[in-house]
Amino acid sequence: MIRLFILLLALIPAGGFADTDISSDERSRRALALPMPAMPDALISQFNDGRSLFNQMWVIAPSTTPDIDGLGPLFNSLSCLECHPGNGRGRAPDSPGEPMRSMLVRLSVTDDEGNVWPHPVYGEQLQERAIPGVPAEGQARVHYESVSVTLADGVEIELRRPTISLSHPGYGEFGDVLVSGRIGPPLIGMGLIDAISDDTILQWVDYQSSLPEGIVGRPHWLQAAADQPPRIGRFGVKAGIATLERQIAQAFHEDLGITSAAFPRENCTAGQTACLAAPSGGDPELTEQQLAAVNLYLSLLAIPEPAVETEQIRFGRQQFAAAACIHCHRPAMTTAKDAVPALLANRQVDLYSDLLLHDMGPDLADHRPEADASGSEWRTAPLWGLGLAEQVADRVGYLHDGRARTVLEAILWHGGAAQASRDAVIEMSTAEREALLAFLQSL
Ligand code: HEC
Ligand code: HEC
Repeated sequence: MIRLFILLLALIPAGGFADTDISSDERSRRALALPMPAMPDALISQFNDGRSLFNQMWVIAPSTTPDIDGLGPLFNSLSCLECHPGNGRGRAPDSPGEPMRSMLVRLSVTDDEGNVWPHPVYGEQLQERAIPGVPAEGQARVHYESVSVTLADGVEIELRRPTISLSHPGYGEFGDVLVSGRIGPPLIGMGLIDAISDDTILQWVDYQSSLPEGIVGRPHWLQAAADQPPRIGRFGVKAGIATLERQIAQAFHEDLGITSAAFPRENCTAGQTACLAAPSGGDPELTEQQLAAVNLYLSLLAIPEPAVETEQIRFGRQQFAAAACIHCHRPAMTTAKDAVPALLANRQVDLYSDLLLHDMGPDLADHRPEADASGSEWRTAPLWGLGLAEQVADRVGYLHDGRARTVLEAILWHGGAAQASRDAVIEMSTAEREALLAFLQSL
C-alpha cells in the first residue's frame, strides 16, 4: 500500500513545472487569453484574426460587414466569448428568474425501442434567441433544491440540485424531452488536447485496470465518417467530439447559427419555416480561413503555469493522491511527436484529466445519452487552470451544469466510480481538506 502511494506521488509533476515555450505565469484577468511565448512570428496575424472572430459579436445578414454576418436565424449568443468569458468558464443562473447567459441546454427524445434521437422539431439544442421575424425556440430555466452535507469536522455545506424546465415553446409543445444543461467550460490547451494520440489515452486504461479501486474509464470512440478510422472523443463534457476543428464548427453552427463547410445548412428543422426562409450570410457563412484562424487561436493560447509550491500545497498534493483523485484526474500526458503546429508536438501537458468517461452516479446524471456515453457518464474534467477560474470571470460555476459554486461543492457531488474519493474528502481533517483545496487552487 505504501509502495503504491509513493508510486502515485511520482506521477504528479513537481509543483511549478513549466514549459516556458507554451505556458505563462500570468495570474491576472488576462491569464487565459495570452499567446504561447514561443508562438512563431509568422502565425501572429492569423492568431489575432482568430481572437477577433472569437471575441466579436456576429451580426444579422445582410450587413455592411459581410465577413462577420450570418448570425442565427436561431442562436444562443452573439459571440463565443459570452459563454467562455476571458476564455474561462461560464456559470449557471442562480434562480429560475434569471436567464441563461453562459449556459445552454441540449435536447433529445427516445423512441419506443429506447433509441435516442434529436428532437424532431427543436433539434439537439434549444436556441433561446432568434433574429427578428423568426420565433425563438423557447426558454430554459434552472430550479434548485438544496441538499446539505456535513463534513467530519462539523462544517456544513449547502449543495444545490438543479432541474431544468422549458417554457414558451416557439414551435409547439416540447413533449417528452430529455434535457442536459451545460455551462461553457474553460478553453485551456485545446490544441494540446487535440494533439494527444489515442494510444496515450489508452495507456491509462491499462493503468486503471491494474488498480484495486475498480476505477476504469472508457474511451468514447467516435466514427466521424465511414471512410475514416475511429478516434477517441475528447471535447465536450461527454467527450462526444473527436477533433478541435469539428468542435469549433459545431459551436458556430449550434450556438451562433453560423454555417461552415462541415455544417452547410442553417440549424433549422423542417417545420421551422421562417428560420429556413431567413437570408443567409454566405455559402457557407464561416470560411475555411476563418475556421482555421479560430482553431489556431484556441490552439496557441498559453497554458497557465501552476503557482509556486508551498508546504501546504505539497501536503494537498499528497491528499489528492491519497483520496484517489489522481486515478481519473491524470496529472500528465505527452502530445504526439508529429502534431501540428510543431510547437504543440511532444509536449508534456499537465491537464489533470484522463479524457475518459466515468460513471459518476445518479446524482450527477442527466439521463440523456449522447453518442456512446450514458446519462451518468462524464469526461473527467481537466483541472489545469482551476485556480484561475475566479480570476478571469467574476462569477463562475463548476461541473458540467455549473451547479457547484465552489470547488469543494464540485467534489461533494462526485458519486459512482468517484464515490470513495468524495467520502475520503468528507472524512478529512480541516487541515487536510484545506491543503487539498490549496493544491487545486494552485493549478
Ligand atoms: C451558449 C453558450 C456557448 C457559446 C456561445 C459557445 N460555447 Fe463553446 N461550449 C459551450 C458548452 C456548454 C460547451 C460544452 C459542450 C458539450 O459538452 O456539449 C462548450 C464547449 C466548447 C469547446 C470544447 C471545450 C472542451 O473542454 O472540450 C470549445 C473548443 C468551444 N466550446 C469553442 C467555442 C467557440 C469557438 C465558440 C464560438 C463559435 C463557442 N464555443 C461558443 C457553450 C458555448
Ligand atoms: C472516477 C473518476 C474521478 C475521480 C476518482 C475524481 N474525479 Fe473529479 N471529476 C470527474 C469527472 C467525470 C468530472 C466531471 C463531472 C461533471 O462535469 O459533472 C470531475 C469534475 C471535478 C471537478 C470540477 C471541475 C470543473 O472544471 O468544473 C473538480 C474540482 C474535481 N473533479 C476534483 C476532484 C477531486 C479533488 C477528486 C478527489 C477527491 C476527484 N475529483 C476525484 C472524475 C473523477
